[in-house]
This record gives sequence, C-alpha cells and structure tokens, in this order.
Amino acid sequence: MAEFQNDLLVHTARGEKCERSPVWVMRQAGRILPEYREVRKSLSGFKELVETPDLAAEVTVQPVDILGVDAAIIFSDILVIPEAMGLTYEMKEGFGPFFPRTIKGKADIDQLRTADGSELRYVYDAISETRKRLNGRVPVIGFAGAPFTILCYMIEGQGSKTFSNARRWLHSRPAESHQLLEMITESTINYLKLQVEAGVSLYQVFDSWAGVLSESLYREFCMPYLNRIAQEINEVPSIVFAKGAHFAMEDLMKSEFNAVGLDWTMKPEDMRQLDSEKVLQGNLDPCLLYANDDEIVNKTNEMLNSFSGGAHIANLGHGVYPDTEWQKVKLFIDTIKNSSN
Ligand code: CP3
Repeated sequence: MAEFQNDLLVHTARGEKCERSPVWVMRQAGRILPEYREVRKSLSGFKELVETPDLAAEVTVQPVDILGVDAAIIFSDILVIPEAMGLTYEMKEGFGPFFPRTIKGKADIDQLRTADGSELRYVYDAISETRKRLNGRVPVIGFAGAPFTILCYMIEGQGSKTFSNARRWLHSRPAESHQLLEMITESTINYLKLQVEAGVSLYQVFDSWAGVLSESLYREFCMPYLNRIAQEINEVPSIVFAKGAHFAMEDLMKSEFNAVGLDWTMKPEDMRQLDSEKVLQGNLDPCLLYANDDEIVNKTNEMLNSFSGGAHIANLGHGVYPDTEWQKVKLFIDTIKNSSN
C-alpha cells in the first residue's frame, strides 16, 4: 500500500513519471496565512513557535489544509544549526535574524562544538507531531541550510546584500573557513539523519546566498560539503537549491542530489541539456503572484511547459514574499493541480 494518500512528490523526486507535477511553495509555512499570524500573535516570538512542537506542527499543516499543497515543510529555520553549535540567534521583528556573537577568528571556531543533533529534539518532535496530524495525507519535507549559507550568518551575524565579510574569510582565511565548513557539515548531517528518523520523506538543502560566490569559490568551498551531505543522507530523496548560482549548475546537476531547484532567472531547457534525467524544481518568479489572475494562470502554464521533457516539482523560484495575498498562491497551486503532463 502507498505510504501517503498523495505521494506524487516522493515519486517525482525519485525521477518517476507522474500524472502531473507535484507542487509546494518555499516558505509556505508562515508568512502569508492569516491563520499563521493568529498563532504567532499569542507568542513571545518566532523562536517560541519553532521550539514548541505542537504549535510548529499546527502551522506546518496549515498550508496543506488551506492551500492544498502536495507536501508540508516543517516549520523551523536554517539558523537552528549555528545555535546547536553554540551561537545563538535572535529573530528581530522587522529586521530578521541577528547573532549577538559572531565568528571573528580561529579562537571563536575552537569554542564551537559539532552538533550531534540531540540539541534539536524540538524539531524531531514537531516532525512526528506533524506526521500524526497529517495522518498519511501528504509527505513532510525536512530541510537545512547549506554549509556556506550557514557560514555566512555565523560570520556576518545578520543578513547582507553582499556577505562581504564571509567572502573575505574564504579569500583571507581559507584553512579556517574549511575548518568551520567541516563542523557545519558534520552537524548538518547529524541533524538531517535525525529528521529522516523522525519521519521526513525527503529533504531540501537551501544555499540561499550561493549567488554571491564565483565558480572557483563554489567549487572549493561549497560543492565538496554539499556532495558529502547528499552522499551521507540518501535514505530519502533530496533537493538542492542554490539561489543565483548559475556558475554552479553544471556541478549541481552532476551531484548526487535527486533534484535541483532553479530560481526564476535560470532556464530549465539549459538544465535538461546538461542531464535530461535529473529531476528539476521551480521556478516561477514569486513577484508574478502580484499580477492579475489571468496573468498568473498563463505564466504558471508557461512555466509548466518550460519544464516538459522530464520530472518536475513545481515551486516558486524562491520563497513566497510575506505580503503576497494567499489567494494568489492558491491560484498558482490550483493551476498546477488542474494541469496534466
Ligand atoms: O518554507 C517554510 O515555510 C518552512 C519554514 C522556513 C522558515 N525559514 C521559517 C521562517 C524555512 C524553510 C526557512 C529557511 C530559511 N531561513 C532560509 C532559506 C530559505 C530562503 O528564503 O532563502 C533563510 C535564508 C533563513 C533565514 C531567515 N529566517 C531570514 C532571513 C528571516 C527573516 C526574513 C523572513 O524570511 O521572513 C527568517 C525568519 C523566518 N523564518 C520567518 C519564517 C516564517 C518569519 C518570522 C516571523 O514570523 O516573524
């Protein structure tokens, strides 16, 4: 018997041909739903929600109930890994992530620990609770940040357009950068293994800041660590998403990740030429969801056509923006569900 009533995503991620592209939306949990804001309102902050499994499960299931997506993604954040390694984060209202302490030199790295994963019990509890609540309807997606993107936050301490402090480290302190990336990679592997044990049916690695690098930096400081993650965690299918990293697509297409995510500036045809067997994910511009309904339907259908010729997971080309009307997101999802390959 099938594990899920709707197992389109798991089959497609393994490269099997299905009747249509499954759909989920990066950042679907939280941000856009009034029901999310309602839960969030009664709490002291974002971290309380992340660290309370019952509530995290509640907001994880909301987009399945309200938007009709083909999978849930666990409500958490990529920044739980630096915290498990010894650098706590704050989520500042109207500002975003902030680290009171950052990595400034080797002495700071030496004070970190490699997380064995047990620090993040609340995530695994949220996963089991979510599975209980979903009762076999759709699979749950786990996730982690890519080692380089996590290094960016540990060094920079907050968001940045250029992550120039992080890039400065790669150029001026290569050995220490590798030391830190090693520790993040080990921690992430331990963490993802426990997510799989807790019941995720696939996982995505977010390399959100990949686009600030160059081909040679990506080859040296990203690919080896990403490859290790893909190799070590292969019990369930995996997706890698490196935003803006045109220069890395050839390497990513050759990697052992089952699926490669594209942002809206990347062309599926180019990827199909590199490897027609690889599963692709993406890639509607999230800003298209500010357009009128006809435009959304037309452009979504165009996007679906642009991926024809191979297995495809429909998604946006990056996370949905917080002020997007949820009805527009639902229209995007319904358009995909009404299509057929
Ligand atoms: O996809 C989902 O809905 C699952 C939950 C999820 C969150 N963060 C919840 C969140 C996921 C997958 C993430 C990943 C994440 N976090 C990334 C990679 C994805 C990407 O967008 O590139 C990054 C770079 C972060 C770091 C982070 N967390 C930032 C920059 C911010 C502030 C701005 C923002 O995105 O809203 C966060 C906060 C955050 N993470 C919120 C949510 C729902 C908003 C918190 C709130 O409710 O106040």
